Amino acid sequence: MSSSETSEYILSIDQGTTSTRAVVFDHTGQILASAQKEHTQHFPQAGWVEHDAVEIWQNTQEMISGALTEGGVTPEQIKALGITNQRETTVVWDRATGEPIHRALVWQDTRTQAIIDELAADGGTERFKERAGLPLATYFSGPKIRWVLDQVQGARERAEAGELLFGTMDTWLVWNLTGGTEGGVHITDVTNASRTLLMNIDTLDWNPEICAAIGVPEAVLPQIRSSSEVYAECAESSGIPGVPIAGILGDQHAATVGQACFEPGQGKNTYGTGNFMLINTGHEPVHNDQGLLTTLAYKFGAQPPVYALEGSIAVTGSLIQWLRDNLGLISSAAESEDRAENVKDHGGAYIVPAFSGLFAPYWRPEARGVIVGLTRYVTADHLCRAALESVAFQSAEVVEAMNASAPEDLTELKVDGGMVVNETLMQFQADLLGVDVVRPEVIETTALGAAYAAGLATGYWASTDELTSNWREGRRWRPTMDQDARSHRLTEWRKAVERSFNWVD
Ligand SMILES: Nc1ncnc2c1ncn2[C@@H]1O[C@H](COP(=O)(O)OP(=O)(O)OP(=O)(O)O)[C@@H](O)[C@H]1O
Ligand SMILES: [Mg+2]
Repeated sequence: MSSSETSEYILSIDQGTTSTRAVVFDHTGQILASAQKEHTQHFPQAGWVEHDAVEIWQNTQEMISGALTEGGVTPEQIKALGITNQRETTVVWDRATGEPIHRALVWQDTRTQAIIDELAADGGTERFKERAGLPLATYFSGPKIRWVLDQVQGARERAEAGELLFGTMDTWLVWNLTGGTEGGVHITDVTNASRTLLMNIDTLDWNPEICAAIGVPEAVLPQIRSSSEVYAECAESSGIPGVPIAGILGDQHAATVGQACFEPGQGKNTYGTGNFMLINTGHEPVHNDQGLLTTLAYKFGAQPPVYALEGSIAVTGSLIQWLRDNLGLISSAAESEDRAENVKDHGGAYIVPAFSGLFAPYWRPEARGVIVGLTRYVTADHLCRAALESVAFQSAEVVEAMNASAPEDLTELKVDGGMVVNETLMQFQADLLGVDVVRPEVIETTALGAAYAAGLATGYWASTDELTSNWREGRRWRPTMDQDARSHRLTEWRKAVERSFNWVD
């Protein structure tokens, strides 16, 4: 018998903004097999972004069987399943039919701005910050639920009667995997719940006053569980019957776990559709006035919760997609690097991709994207470089906010996500920060973190020490830019950012 017939593995589903992946991990945290598929992005009007939750569920089933087939692994060899997901994206469905009542509202969607303005009129955008850890913003799930219940005819009454269920993608997939209309389990984990604006960050319960203020009936909300415990077994209809679901983490929290950031002060920056930096702050929530969010890092079973500070940036990798799909400047994301390498610098151009307003550290919903510094000299190659640089500039500002909030400055930056294959970007990031940028061997840290959560709950891994020893450095970039050049570039960047402000009335 080959070892793949006798061994046990952990299966991880990474339900992301652009694609769904299923990944099979072995005990050393290495990838045995994986499958990935993109889903349709719907942009019905400016500022609106939607996904079809049914398409995502179908892709998930396909990717599970695809990954198992590729690895030559049977469902019996899967010790546990972990799920990680794009956060905040909101789906409301009918409990009796399993049909969504509206397309899912994606985290980048800004249609709830009027609801946010109405809520902020009474107490400002920080009115729930102390309790929920978050400012009022279109980004979070609670106001998206309110929008769906307001806009779909009869939905509010049906929600109050307990006929409708809300979920982020973790909740939607778990409900379907555990049987859907035939006994599906309606749960989420603390990390996903911490992104709704509806959860009390201290008690980890839904907050009835905030739910009432935003207009979300508690009957639609899932039960909040830890990030690592055996929740339920997959149903016959799932294709992997009997496999225990044992880990749920929002994607950024999963990457934090996948990077083994288990000690206070340890953190990571993930370069994907957007960029998200999380720093572990230990067992107490730390409130922040530098534009960082207070969030859960993870909660393993009955152990006390671990909190994090987060710097969220809405548009980074999606700017590269925009250059490809909307402008046609490049034919693949990788080509952005080739084009940037054709020129020695940015040629004076800056791109501020405030497509959904600006998130951290500014939180300016009325900002919109700008390209500044244009002259006849600037070429498409310069714009490609400026696009990559904007990713690093935005992250440098988040690092600055982190340093202003923490007792000690960051000494190196652990990175992951789809963009960290881009060497030009990574070198520029190290240059701008003045500290080393470090990429692990396994850059699928999001999927890995969910696998870790599931494996810890089922005894596949004994302790976080074992996970820490799995972490291996893959590549390191050292800063080469001098301090004067660095501050000159950052000053110009801030001027560009100001040009994006006050665009939408
Ligand atoms: N070589 C590259 N250079 C620059 N950007 C790249 C490169 N390769 C991929 N990207 C960008 O990385 C992003 C994909 O990264 P990743 O898969 O980590 O994203 P993600 O946010 O996790 O997506 P999802 O939410 O679907 O999981 C895309 O936006 C893509 O434009
Ligand atoms: Mg992802």
